[in-house]
Amino acid sequence: MKGVILAGGLGTRLYPLTFATNKHLLPVYDRPMVFYPIQTLLRAGIDEILVVVGGPHAGDFIRVLKNGKELGVKHLEYAYQEGEGGIADALSLAEDFADSGPITVILGDNCTDADIKKDVQTFKGGAKIFLKKVPDPERFGVPVFDEKGKIIKIEEKPKRPKSSYAVTGLYIYDNQVFDFIKKCKPSARGELEITDVNNFYIKAGKLDWAELKGYWLDAGTFKTLFLANLYWAKKSKDFKKGEL
Ligand code: DAU
Repeated sequence: MKGVILAGGLGTRLYPLTFATNKHLLPVYDRPMVFYPIQTLLRAGIDEILVVVGGPHAGDFIRVLKNGKELGVKHLEYAYQEGEGGIADALSLAEDFADSGPITVILGDNCTDADIKKDVQTFKGGAKIFLKKVPDPERFGVPVFDEKGKIIKIEEKPKRPKSSYAVTGLYIYDNQVFDFIKKCKPSARGELEITDVNNFYIKAGKLDWAELKGYWLDAGTFKTLFLANLYWAKKSKDFKKGEL
């Protein structure tokens, strides 16, 4: 399977850090943020990767990732997203790259040590999303379950979340994803929402889910960027016990 990393957008939530470079190139301990989603894809056995970039510092990606070989990526492609049309808009740029096949998609600010290789290998079609229990679901896409534990819809950043799960920025889609994106209309925040795409899959009865095992966070705020740094610093052997 091929993989897509969505690393467009302007990173305005992290101004002034993102005045000088792209959010996904900021450090998360000893490596740029975007290395983590790349490693997640590589761990899953995916080494053909498209990175969707955007904003004024898009050129910085080439200086950091080059042709991907140093990182173990067999084939690395870039696409440029004009403006900030949303996650689904960024994903629409991957249609030719997907070449009628399925794709694993990860948001460029999602840092995890989870292993989704089995999910990728056993994927048969439709869509698969990964959920994580979080203390602040209102920051995310939140699933609504029926009494049998089936997801009946996903609400994007609900004021009153109906479950304590976040939809993580890690998705496996069949090629129908591009038809569903074409049906999406801009949301109140003017973006094509990935949550709308997932809701199309739910309506078609084709959305599967699993709980993501391992550490996960979206490093897109000052607090979570700091926590991601702390987690990977602690995981490294650079600090003695009690030093952090
Ligand atoms: O992290 C998981 C959450 O990500 C999900 O629970 C939400 O359902 C989903 O909408 C998304 O929410 P965020 O508000 O965190 O998305 P954000 O605008 O921060 O964008 C996340 C990444 O997506 C960003 O690091 C780069 C990529 N992106 C985003 C936009 C708006 C693009 O490539 N292009 C874009 O236009």
